[in-house]
Amino acid sequence: MKNKKQLLFRRSEIVCQGSAEPWRGHSDGGSFYRPTWAEINLQNLKQNIKSISGLVKPRAKILAVVKANAYGHMALPCAKAALAAGASALGVSSIEEGITLRRGGIKAPILILGSIFPFVNLSLAVKNNLTPTISSLQGLAELARIGARLGKRLPFHLKVDTGMGRVGLTPSSAISAIEKAAARKEVSLEGIYTHFSSSLDREFTDLQLEKFLAVTNFAKKLKLKFTAHAANSGALLTNKKTHLDMVRPGLAVYGLLPFETEKQKINLSPVLSWKTRVVFMKRVPAKTPISYDRTFVTGRSSLIATLPVGYADGYLRSLSNKAEALINGRRCPVVGRVTMDMIMVDVTKAGGVSIGAEAVLLGAQGSDNISVEEMARWANTINYEIACGISARVPRVIV
Ligand SMILES: Cc1ncc(COP(=O)(O)O)c(C=O)c1O
Repeated sequence: MKNKKQLLFRRSEIVCQGSAEPWRGHSDGGSFYRPTWAEINLQNLKQNIKSISGLVKPRAKILAVVKANAYGHMALPCAKAALAAGASALGVSSIEEGITLRRGGIKAPILILGSIFPFVNLSLAVKNNLTPTISSLQGLAELARIGARLGKRLPFHLKVDTGMGRVGLTPSSAISAIEKAAARKEVSLEGIYTHFSSSLDREFTDLQLEKFLAVTNFAKKLKLKFTAHAANSGALLTNKKTHLDMVRPGLAVYGLLPFETEKQKINLSPVLSWKTRVVFMKRVPAKTPISYDRTFVTGRSSLIATLPVGYADGYLRSLSNKAEALINGRRCPVVGRVTMDMIMVDVTKAGGVSIGAEAVLLGAQGSDNISVEEMARWANTINYEIACGISARVPRVIV
């Protein structure tokens, strides 16, 4: 019994080292015992919205894209913070994501950016006061049928495919959809939008914009009142002409950018940091293999620390033998394969690392910082995928 108590005490001692005590701050009210967590800084998110707003003022409104659990940052608190900071609408990818926000008390307009199918599910969007995107004539007819059944005029945004090749009506079909919508009292065209495929490519973006404006000009000639929107984070920064009535940033809201070349144009701060703690330490001699398949073998006597994070948390396997973690303010290389639940780091040069020490996977420690972009480079992917990929198993803590 005595031993058990001692063990518990020692464990809590380990997790309580450092300034934060995130296991008490888990935002869904629960606690967690494995010391691996992501910190979400909502002040930074609010500041990012203000910076975006400074860039698009005075004309354009902001729709904050909070799909995919706010790019892995936790949709509900991020949505609330974005609205509090001046965003006027939210974008999600599915009815489910929209319902989560409505259940959390969000009253602001929510646009479902994904294409709703089967069409019968459009009635679920309507029921939950979620604005559907219509990207086909078939979808429009179905929405009108639901409107007729409910005796209501149902708002929607029309999606025009100007070069993304994903979902949306071709510009000529969009024009016939607009004519149809204008003639029917069961639907109300609240918005028309498109999505850029390569916002760093000025020429192609301008071409997409031109096709899009031909459609919106047609709708204007019919004296329709609607919100025209196109700009994602990339276009927001690179091409003012794309701002129109509303911008639709996702990545920038979280303090990240699609291209580092645009860094100077806006003051953004990352919202997410990813942290863990050393749970096991060992001193090993030279020639000791580490992790599956022995892809790393120590070249000298080494101090190896084990961190409780792995590919099941979204710490990608492609980071094996490439990534670094910050411990004691020093960069410590990930050695050997990333496993499902754990990674090993070489802390030989970090000086005095002990069990319980905080390790920063993403974010700042001391004077150094590991950015999402840097991790994306190590993993040969993009910052979007790193952020969205941090799995639900990692508790998010609001700081
Ligand atoms: C339709 C649509 N609009 C806006 C965005 C936001 O893009 P970004 O995160 O590049 O700002 C996305 C994201 O993929 C999207 O699919």
